[in-house]
Amino acid sequence: MVPEIDGERLLGRLEAFAYVGATPAGGVNRQAFSVEDRAARRLLAELAQERGFTVFQDGIANLFIRREGSDATLPPLLIGSHLDSQPTGGRFDGALGTLSAFEVLEALEDAEAETRMPIEVAAWANEEGSRFAPGVMGSMAFTGADISAWKSNVGSDGASLAKELEATICALPEATRRPIGIPISGYIELHIEQGPSLEKERLPIGVVTAVQGTRWLEVSIEGAAGHAGTTGLAYRKDPMVAAIAAIHRLQATIMPLDSSARLTVGRIAAQPGSINAIPQSVAFTVDIRHPRVERLDAIEAELRQACAAEAEAQHCTAMIRRSFDMPGAAFSPDMVKIVEAAARSLRLPHKRMISGAFHDALFLARVAPAAMIFVPCRDGLSHNEAEYVEPADAVAGARVLLQATIAAASPR
Ligand code: GLV
Ligand code: MN
Ligand code: MN
Repeated sequence: MVPEIDGERLLGRLEAFAYVGATPAGGVNRQAFSVEDRAARRLLAELAQERGFTVFQDGIANLFIRREGSDATLPPLLIGSHLDSQPTGGRFDGALGTLSAFEVLEALEDAEAETRMPIEVAAWANEEGSRFAPGVMGSMAFTGADISAWKSNVGSDGASLAKELEATICALPEATRRPIGIPISGYIELHIEQGPSLEKERLPIGVVTAVQGTRWLEVSIEGAAGHAGTTGLAYRKDPMVAAIAAIHRLQATIMPLDSSARLTVGRIAAQPGSINAIPQSVAFTVDIRHPRVERLDAIEAELRQACAAEAEAQHCTAMIRRSFDMPGAAFSPDMVKIVEAAARSLRLPHKRMISGAFHDALFLARVAPAAMIFVPCRDGLSHNEAEYVEPADAVAGARVLLQATIAAASPR
């Protein structure tokens, strides 16, 4: 029998997982290592065990589902994505790639199809990083990062990473523990584009050749708390004024002058956060993206300069810490060709493209040939509860993943 994606089954699974951490506005809140994240991991592990696949997890809570190949000497080909989400995330970011990878495993099993390499579905831990920085934590650890450096990290909700990670691992006792990082033969990830270009060009498939770089900075401006009603301008050390001026200066220059640059302030908080007190301090995050590392360096330098100058103008001080630094990278030309050939063989219109979002594949590409498949999402929306993928596009992406997996896992 020829393995085929069961579109109804895949769409049903996407629907079922959208209930786990569902938000009233139709999205999901399944932030990393939360109760909802644990529930999604459990659901996937149960589905895997029902089909007789082996389930593993490692010390950073990466989850793996394995189907054996015919050549036991070969390391596995990994396919997958993530199950964690943004706080107000969409139901496809991560889930589409993870559940399509599981559908590929089931399609192979249904057809009793043999592959030379074992195939493992990977659900990478904490891809989003919005609760616990850094993002892509699971794939970064899998490819050699030292996890002890993160153990003292505190979440955006004040939770301890070490405790939440331990609880997440303990919530899945039936998964066999194995060390973080094993040799692999390759990695393929299906994901929504999270941008508008495929939809605009009416293309169902993007063949991703590279991922741009990301840098995260945490800025803290320290001033002096004071009475809102009595403190005149000459006496103020107001970190809010400094923060707003610095952010305004950066937004007015970085992106308008460089169309490849992205700069986002996604979180800002004042302490003590009282309506009638000048804040003691203001902290905000900055997410910078660029395909070229020298531009990431230049933008960071401009940001440091703007924050220092605006803080000084308000008699405040600025402190800046990098919480995440990921240079962009190109995928393996051979793996990209495998994905492209899969789209071609299915007669699905496609184009080569660069990813604006970061992905676990970026780290896997450091240890093995990797590539990604994109499908369009409505209005290019993602990191938004309204995120939507046409069912036909979701199924098309899974079909490309199946063909690419078969080709990569049974090299001639
Ligand atoms: C991934 O979620 C990203 O922010 O690019
Ligand atoms: Mn994602
Ligand atoms: Mn995301």
